[in-house]
Amino acid sequence: MSTSQQHQPSPTVRYEVRDGVAVIRLANPPVNGLGDTVRAGLASAVARAAADDHVGAVIVVGEGKGFCGGADLRQFGTPAATADPTLPDVLTTITHSPKPVIAAIHGFALGGGLELALACHYRITHRDAKLGLPEVNVGLIPGSGGTQRLPRLIGAAAALRLIQQGTPVSGARAAELGIADDCFDGDPLGAALDFLRTQVNTSVSGPVVDSLPPADAAGVDFDAARRTVRPSTRNGLAQLTAIDAVETATRLPTAAGLAFERAAFLGLLRGPESAALRHVFFAEKTAPRLSGVPPVSARPISRVAVVGAGTMGSGIAMAFANGGLPVTLIEQNQDALTRGTALVRKTYESSTAKGRLTETQARDRIALIEPNLDLDAAAEADLVVEAVFEDMGVKKEVFGKLDAVCKPGAILASNTSRLDLDQIARATSRPSDVIGLHFFSPANIMKLVEVVRGEATADDVVATGLTLAQQIGKIPVLSQVCEGFIGNRMLTPYRREAEFLLEEGATPQQIDAALQAFGMAMGPCAMSDLAGLDIAWAARKRLAPTRPKDVRYSRVADTLCANGRFGQKSGAGYYRYEKGSRTPVPDPVVDEIIRTCAAEDGIERRTITDEEIIDRCVLALVNEGATLLGEGIAQRASDIDVVYVDGYGFPAFRGGPMYYAEALGLDVTLQKIRDFENVHGRTWTPAPRLAQLVDAGRTSF
Ligand code: NAI
Repeated sequence: MSTSQQHQPSPTVRYEVRDGVAVIRLANPPVNGLGDTVRAGLASAVARAAADDHVGAVIVVGEGKGFCGGADLRQFGTPAATADPTLPDVLTTITHSPKPVIAAIHGFALGGGLELALACHYRITHRDAKLGLPEVNVGLIPGSGGTQRLPRLIGAAAALRLIQQGTPVSGARAAELGIADDCFDGDPLGAALDFLRTQVNTSVSGPVVDSLPPADAAGVDFDAARRTVRPSTRNGLAQLTAIDAVETATRLPTAAGLAFERAAFLGLLRGPESAALRHVFFAEKTAPRLSGVPPVSARPISRVAVVGAGTMGSGIAMAFANGGLPVTLIEQNQDALTRGTALVRKTYESSTAKGRLTETQARDRIALIEPNLDLDAAAEADLVVEAVFEDMGVKKEVFGKLDAVCKPGAILASNTSRLDLDQIARATSRPSDVIGLHFFSPANIMKLVEVVRGEATADDVVATGLTLAQQIGKIPVLSQVCEGFIGNRMLTPYRREAEFLLEEGATPQQIDAALQAFGMAMGPCAMSDLAGLDIAWAARKRLAPTRPKDVRYSRVADTLCANGRFGQKSGAGYYRYEKGSRTPVPDPVVDEIIRTCAAEDGIERRTITDEEIIDRCVLALVNEGATLLGEGIAQRASDIDVVYVDGYGFPAFRGGPMYYAEALGLDVTLQKIRDFENVHGRTWTPAPRLAQLVDAGRTSF
């Protein structure tokens, strides 16, 4: 064996020769990201093996937990990310190696990591490894041959699915698809040496994907794939570009295809959508971190109880069961419990029918949820989530009883969307164990959970909420107590502007269409109809005594409710709904209600532009977001972006409301808000935080 430290090609790539085989190890923890030193080290190691007469073949393996996780995200945006040699250059060195190069994958080969493997002559993979090209998730496409080599290897149909969806496959599946030549169970290097001995003729370099003709287009309808990308699709531009690139692989020779791919990749990398999606990616990773307190351990949670088996309680029970936790689902009456458990069963049956779960998985999850009619059943739980009616009296009564029943150290959580958590906590003798866990509907699907910290909530209880939410696959964001927490509090001025615009001359369909074209998953009127108008109506009635009399107030929503129009559930809201249909139909009755409200308040109607709709609704979100950031309700501006992108359908390709304002320019944002203040008065007073930042010449929150 001839290896020594001073001959290492770089600090992050190790090289040794074993019995005529050069072994190149990627050693750049945590994921062997392809930073500048790894790229340079790989290129020089491959060149060194090529020049060494004692070497007949080359094996590339990863040290640590995986083969290679792709680009080194720590270098994103720095000169090191684009320093020579670029990844395409390194991969060209590999494809031109006169000696066969074998990638031995364990753990993961993702993004550039899989592209590295695709440029090798052979690939073998651990059965349980994860292989994929997830670039579309951050608004990019593979930029180092993935879109050209993968279709050549496995056909355009299978490659398009992997690249457009960005979802990884297991090693076993990768071998079935033909991405890998073989699959193994044990040690990657041992498996690669075996493979070399039994399957590879080392006197020739072996097959290179690049020499294959354009990919087989059988079974792909590229236009149909394009039609699956809707305007609100999070990463629509990247998906469309990925489709173009894979189509190119079916038409052009490799070199031309690689050039097309690289240009398209660089175009996306420099564009606003990918920058916004990368912001969201990092924002989601940062959100669960608790800042400003010393690290604390989370409490162990091995059993959960959920109180209330309505829409939310059933969904929350499923969210925990999906994360593998046993749940006691407690109701006050048999009918409601039967309805709740039926909803659970129906949801899992539909998941199996759609092929998302196997029947065994669905059965196991249903078995984790144990229905019960007695609150005493919460005694064994480490965490109880209350999801009963949104009524302070009912909640206090439930928390008082839970306090008596639950074991010491158990965490008592409320799913309230707007009520004062501190009042709820005071109904117990242990307010430091009380927290808000605000799930979004449907709770088994929606990723966002607002973790609400009360005035007395202990740090380790907050840490437990954040950790547990991640354990069950959710994205937690910390909020302090205030009316509506982060998300619903911001929704109030957003909806208020929509209502004012209605009175000033817009229609529900115009407002919804303008905001959907902006990228919102739904417009505010259709969203209110879906969520139900009655909850916000109850909140407005509760808050009416605190509303200043000299501030403009629209009575449109109140009037709709007073006419029994609660949204889809009552067949009418801002729109009407045919029986059994969820399709909103414009309703002249609503236009009449709007006109009457406007006339009674002396509002002159005019033509409203879509631009004004977007500015007023979106900047209302921004101004409220900046206000609650100044109040310390949210830990960071990027947390607010996560709330809006993951909980309220704000377009991820715009990065969330706070990032949107930064991209617009904080100074421009402030000016627009001041202009609105001049016309519409003090609902538009600029958030002090925003004004301070602009005064200080800052460009970000
Ligand atoms: P729901 O009316 O569908 O369900 C409430 C359930 O609680 C009912 O089945 C009722 O029988 C049960 N319940 C009432 N008192 C009880 C008691 N003492 N013991 C046991 N069970 C009891 O209401 P939903 O929509 O599920 O809302 C529940 C909570 O979640 C509310 O606080 C609401 O504000 C909050 N929330 C609702 C969201 C939504 O979109 N519906 C979103 C986020 C939070």
